[in-house]
Amino acid sequence: MSNWRRLCSALILLAVCMHAEAGADVRERLSLDRGWLFHLGDVVQPPILGHEESYGNAKAGSAAGAAGNEFDDSDWRKLDLPHDWAVEGPFDPKANVAQGYRPRGIGWYRRYLRVDAADRGKHFELQFDAIATHATVWVNGNVVTRNWSGYNASYIDITPYLRYGDALNTIAVRADAEAMEGWWYEGAGMYRHAWLVKRSPVHIATDGVHATPRAGKGKSWSIPVEVTLNNSGKQAADVTVEVTVFDPAGKQVAQRTAAARVGVLATSTVQLPVAIDNPALWSLEKTNLYRVATRVLQGGEQQDELTLHTGFRSIRFDAAQGFFLNGVHVKLQGVCIHQDHAGVGVAVPDSVWEYRLRRLKELGVNAIRFSHNAPAAEVLDLVDRMGFVVMDENRNFNPSPDYMKQLEWMVKRDRHHPGVVLWSVFNEEPVQATEVGYEMVRRMSAAVKALDDTRPVTAAMNGGFLTELNVSHAVDVVGANYQVPDYDKYHKAYPDKPFTSSEDTSAFMTRGEFKTVKEKNLIASYDDDAAKWGNTHRDAWEAIATRPYVAGGFVWTGFDYRGEPTPNEWPSVSSVFGIMDLNGFPKNAYYIHQVQWIKDKPLIHIAPHWNWSGSEGKEIRVMVMANVERIKLLLNGRALGEQQVDPFRMNYFNVAYAPGKLEAIGYRGGQEVARTAVETTGAAVALELVPDRAQLAGDGRDAMPITVRALDAQGRAVPLADAQVTFAVTGGGRSIGHGNGDPNSHEDEKGATRRLFNGLAQLIVQTNYDGKDAVTVVASAPGLVAARVTIPVKPVAAQPYVAEADAPLTFVRSWRIAPDSDTRPDPVQQLAGFDMNTWGWGSPPMVAKAGGKFHLYRSSFTPRKNLADGSGRLRFASIRGKAEVWLNGVLLGKKDGYAPGALDLPLPAGAGKRELNVIVEAEPGQGSGIDGNVTIER
Ligand code: GAL
Repeated sequence: MSNWRRLCSALILLAVCMHAEAGADVRERLSLDRGWLFHLGDVVQPPILGHEESYGNAKAGSAAGAAGNEFDDSDWRKLDLPHDWAVEGPFDPKANVAQGYRPRGIGWYRRYLRVDAADRGKHFELQFDAIATHATVWVNGNVVTRNWSGYNASYIDITPYLRYGDALNTIAVRADAEAMEGWWYEGAGMYRHAWLVKRSPVHIATDGVHATPRAGKGKSWSIPVEVTLNNSGKQAADVTVEVTVFDPAGKQVAQRTAAARVGVLATSTVQLPVAIDNPALWSLEKTNLYRVATRVLQGGEQQDELTLHTGFRSIRFDAAQGFFLNGVHVKLQGVCIHQDHAGVGVAVPDSVWEYRLRRLKELGVNAIRFSHNAPAAEVLDLVDRMGFVVMDENRNFNPSPDYMKQLEWMVKRDRHHPGVVLWSVFNEEPVQATEVGYEMVRRMSAAVKALDDTRPVTAAMNGGFLTELNVSHAVDVVGANYQVPDYDKYHKAYPDKPFTSSEDTSAFMTRGEFKTVKEKNLIASYDDDAAKWGNTHRDAWEAIATRPYVAGGFVWTGFDYRGEPTPNEWPSVSSVFGIMDLNGFPKNAYYIHQVQWIKDKPLIHIAPHWNWSGSEGKEIRVMVMANVERIKLLLNGRALGEQQVDPFRMNYFNVAYAPGKLEAIGYRGGQEVARTAVETTGAAVALELVPDRAQLAGDGRDAMPITVRALDAQGRAVPLADAQVTFAVTGGGRSIGHGNGDPNSHEDEKGATRRLFNGLAQLIVQTNYDGKDAVTVVASAPGLVAARVTIPVKPVAAQPYVAEADAPLTFVRSWRIAPDSDTRPDPVQQLAGFDMNTWGWGSPPMVAKAGGKFHLYRSSFTPRKNLADGSGRLRFASIRGKAEVWLNGVLLGKKDGYAPGALDLPLPAGAGKRELNVIVEAEPGQGSGIDGNVTIER
């Protein structure tokens, strides 16, 4: 008990103290990313055979092995989250093609946690944003969660299991990534963030503020705020809930309070509708975000506060004209994306997500379908800030209670985001054209509507929507994957049903390749090749763009991803569907879509590169992509012809190759408005490093892609360079991986070297925690001048985090207690293995207030491997009374005085389990026992 609490226990001061304590009780959201221990592979425990072991195994807090409290993890690897172990391993031709030939398997994580005694009484929640794929979590030997999806968060109230003060808490996570939920690379392990959220006993439930704006008449809006409160305290709480809304400039625009009573271990829901007149609307161009701050006060003292952002915008899917945002028609220029990136797998730092979304914005994308699962929360925050609309998709199609919880979790977490405009309940389900599918969707749609009725529900159907009874009858907007020939048939049959392409294209292209070489699994970039069920980029978009009733499209995919190397298999390990490669480097498809999607700025681009040594005089197919009216092509200043721009097909020329400069000029109204050129380069002479941003934040999280390329003597990027580059990263950061966009590369993504593929590679550096020093990267390759770049690091306060907890790491916690006696007991007396009742059970502090003079305590422990040399100590933090300590039947040491005191004894060398017996002799009339932690330490 802290002095503060001792003081408070004096009745006269109680009221005052409760207030003073409550004042300190505001929410702390602490990062739990640091300091995990990791073991690749399962940790299999020997079978439990004995009666005593079986009995013990069935008890709360008694999980065995790596799930348990005192497991020896001293040789586990220490790492920080996010972590994806699958990307660390080698490729294996026998592994699953869909998962990119990366063995996944099973892994374990453990983390120790120390909780301040002053925090006793607070509410502690453990949050895992996602773990791939099936996760089981234990806290102090209690199984606390079994989460059967790699795409949703677990929120776990760990308050009841916690130990305070010096005693350590153990978190153990078993991640089973043998389980699969997809047919793409899913990664493995704790690949999103983890948090420890500390709150007052009466607090706002996680995802417990529902603040989704609604349009009223004219320019009046409201937010019918609903706040869910929990109370883990020992008394009912009468609280005031206050909601304040701030405009984008930070000015308060609305406030409302309401009183609520939250019963003991109960939940209350409070309605606080607020009216907001004439808000600044959120749009793709102006992402006005309003801050909604919710506070909970008790007796005037703040207990909890939660801030979230939302935006005012209206959405409408019109059956004839498509999608409207704030009443303005917007054709959805969308992409589907998975969640892995070069070098890091699915453990993508938030700042690399910012980079990915920025690349999409530059491409002209205005809509994203996170296929086929909800993204990380931080990604949706970026979406809101950067201006995209989103189809938020549920992973598992199943209306049974466990799976419905996954869907509901997504809606509750994401419904305040203005960017989210569609909820998708599934992707391509074989039952989509059946009554079963219809009944399942009907239920799932109703579950969504119960939580948010402001957005339409969709499902991505790859057919079946023309049958008599099918899923399309249970959704608000019909999503069609690929069904181009049926677009018009559907619209004719159901002219009143809003319709969008939910997935299209599935075209193939290898970045930087302009010749298809079947034997090498390389596919040319002229947009000639698509999956049988798909279309080329140009065809797919033309079908959408020319039909006003099709709200828009979602290209499969914005970026390449690991796995699904269709139409190839081994040695191809990643997909070639992307408009960009796995690094976010543009393929030719990027320019095709960019000129179709960006209207305001004149754009022009030429493909291919102009390095065709050996092909002099031979015809090269040249593709010009432009959003202007006319284009002219020139080779070395000589005009080759002019063409009217074809906005859907693009423009083509056959050009007899001669080295030099191939130039394209774009005209609008007869005026030159854009110009570009490709030039024949010389051989590579030097490397170049191009950081994505000018500066990194020294918070241990900020990460940045650096483009690596090779230059010729005139400083021009060499398009076919393939140098093997070696990296050295020094200073306040480190490499977290690299890639080159070659779908056939089996190079290690984490090592010190990477080959350029068609002129490019990408290195990702991340700052260290408490980083102050600049990060210096040196890239070298045989025969080339090395490149060096120094990226300044701005010192910033680290995100609040849970400190790593150190030794002592073995606590002797579970004890049997013999009936007390007036005479000294035999310390090694036998107790039958089936006798669970003659002796009692306990955990320190164990203090007998009355009874006999002698108390015998028995436990066992296994010292960690690194103490087998005799360097360990057996430490009793406090024993009240005289004591004898017996280890494996031998007297190890004694405590002579009655007064409470510590006892520190050397632990004899050796391995394996030890039996510990302690006799405590009470001072007559006084309490006695083991009243402090018993630990094995060095
Ligand atoms: C679709 C599916 C996607 C991806 C794509 C490849 O049928 O929804 O996940 O597999 O095909 O073309």
